[in-house]
Amino acid sequence: MAPIDVKKICCIGAGYVGGPTCAVIALKCPHITVTIVDLNQSRIDAWNSDDFSLPIYEPGLVDVVKQARGRNLFFSTDVDKAILEADLIFVSVNTPTKKSGVGAGFAADLNYVELATRRIAAVATSNKIVVEKSTVPCRTAESMRTILESNSHGGARFDILSNPEFLAEGTAIKDLLSPDRVLIGSLQTGEGLDACQALANVYANWVPKERILTVGLWSSELSKLAANAMLAQRISSINALSAICEATGANIDEVSHAVGFDSRIGPKFLRASVGFGGSCFQKDILNLVYLSESLHLPEVAAYWRQVVDMNEYQKSRFSKTVVDTLFKTITGKHIAVLGFAFKADTGDTRESAAITLIRDFLSERAYVTIYDPKVEESQIWQDLSEACPNTPLETIKKYVTIVHNVIEACKDKEAVVIATEWKEFLEIDWQTVYDHMTKPAFVFDGRLLIDADKLRKIGFKVKVIGRGDSTQ
Ligand SMILES: NC(=O)c1ccc[n+]([C@@H]2O[C@H](COP(=O)([O-])OP(=O)(O)OC[C@H]3O[C@@H](n4cnc5c(N)ncnc54)[C@H](O)[C@@H]3O)[C@@H](O)[C@H]2O)c1
Repeated sequence: MAPIDVKKICCIGAGYVGGPTCAVIALKCPHITVTIVDLNQSRIDAWNSDDFSLPIYEPGLVDVVKQARGRNLFFSTDVDKAILEADLIFVSVNTPTKKSGVGAGFAADLNYVELATRRIAAVATSNKIVVEKSTVPCRTAESMRTILESNSHGGARFDILSNPEFLAEGTAIKDLLSPDRVLIGSLQTGEGLDACQALANVYANWVPKERILTVGLWSSELSKLAANAMLAQRISSINALSAICEATGANIDEVSHAVGFDSRIGPKFLRASVGFGGSCFQKDILNLVYLSESLHLPEVAAYWRQVVDMNEYQKSRFSKTVVDTLFKTITGKHIAVLGFAFKADTGDTRESAAITLIRDFLSERAYVTIYDPKVEESQIWQDLSEACPNTPLETIKKYVTIVHNVIEACKDKEAVVIATEWKEFLEIDWQTVYDHMTKPAFVFDGRLLIDADKLRKIGFKVKVIGRGDSTQ
C-alpha cells in the first residue's frame, strides 16, 4: 500500500506546541488544510482575533499566522468536525504532572490525551493517522491504539505515530522552520511504515530529508524524555558548579567558557542561572523518574531525580543569598523582581524560577514589586495564588505590586533581583536606577546579565550567580 497523501490535518490542542507547530505546517504546505481545535473558546477566539492578539507570545508567530490564517489555516472549537474531515490528527494536548492518585507528583497526567483519543474514536468514520505530539511516557501509543481499536466504528483504521516536538519556547518559529531534526516513530509493520512516510512527506515540504529521522514507536517516545532530561542535566551540572564558584572565588562564566570549548561538550546550555523553569523540563524528568521506578530501576530513578533536586536547591540557595545579604532579614523590606516569565521571549510562566523566589520573599513578609515585559497581570496573580495556597489573594496583593517599567519597579526599593534574561534588561540605565533606590542599593543577578564591576562603580552592592565576592 502506498503512503496516503495527506490533504487535511487536524490538531487537537491550540497551545504552545499545537498552535505554532501546525501554523508552520500550514505556512509551508499551502496544499494542506490545517484546522487547529481546542475546547478553550477564549484561546480559539484569541487565535482568530482581528488584531492578531494571539494567546501566546512567540517571536515571528504573528507573521506566520497572518500569512496562513483563512487561506489553509483555521482555528475552531468544533473538534468533531475537524476530526471527521482530517486524514491525519495531531494530539497536542497538555500532559501535566499528576496532582493526585497513583504516581502523584511524578507521573504524567494522561487524562487529556485519553479524552482526545476517545473523541477521535467516537467521531471518526474513515481511516486516520493519529500522531502523538504531546510528550508522553514510553508505550502511551499502545494505550492510544487499544482505545482507538476497541471503539472504532464504520470500519475506520487507525495508525498511531509518535512525533515529539523539540521546539523551545522563545525560539519556536525558528526551531520549527529549521529544526535540528524531526523524529517520527512508528510500528515497524507495512501500515506503520506507510503512515510514517505520509507524515515524513508533510515535513519534507521544508525540512531536508536527512533531518527527518524515523525510528520505532517506543524509541521515539523515550527520545523526547531523554532529550529534555539531558538538557536539564547540563543546566543542573553548571548550576552545581556555580555553587562551588561562589564558595571559591572562581567565575562560572569563565568555567563554562573553558569547558564548552571542548568539542565533546560544546558551549550550549552551559549558562548558570537561578534555575530552569518551563512546563517541560521538570515534568519530563519526573516522568522519567516515575518510569524508571515502575521498571524497578531505583538507581536510574535516583540519578535523574537529582537533576530536579539540584534545580530546587539552586532556587532556594539564591533566595537565601538575598536574605543573608540584606543583613539576614527581608521582613518589611522592598524588593524589585525584574522578569516573571520562565525565560526571555515568552509570556509563559509555568514553573518559572521567579514564582519560587517571590513565594520565598513573601514567606519572609517582604514587599515585592514585579515588572515583566510580556506576562499578563492576571497570570501573575494566578501563579502567586497557586504558589501560596494558604494565603488569600487579598493578602498577597498587600505585599505584591505589578508595574510597567524597570524604573517604576526599582524606585525606593532596597534590592533588585533579576529573574528573567529579557534583552531589555541589558539596556537598563543603572545610574538612574541607583539614584531612585534606597541605600545601600543591592542587585542580585540570577541570569548573569549585568556588568557587575560597572554597577559596583556606581555604588551598588552586587551578587551574581556563580561569582564569589573574591572572584579574581
Ligand atoms: N511548551 C513547550 O515548550 C513544549 C515543547 C515540547 C513539547 N511539549 C509538550 O506538548 C504538549 C502540549 O504542551 P503545550 O505547552 O502546548 O500545552 P498547553 O497547555 O499550552 O496546550 C494544550 C491545549 O490542549 C487543549 N486541550 C486539552 N484537552 C483537549 C481536548 N480533549 N480537546 C481539545 N483541546 C484540548 C487545552 O485546552 C490547551 O489549550 C505537552 O505534552 C508538552 O509536554 C511542550
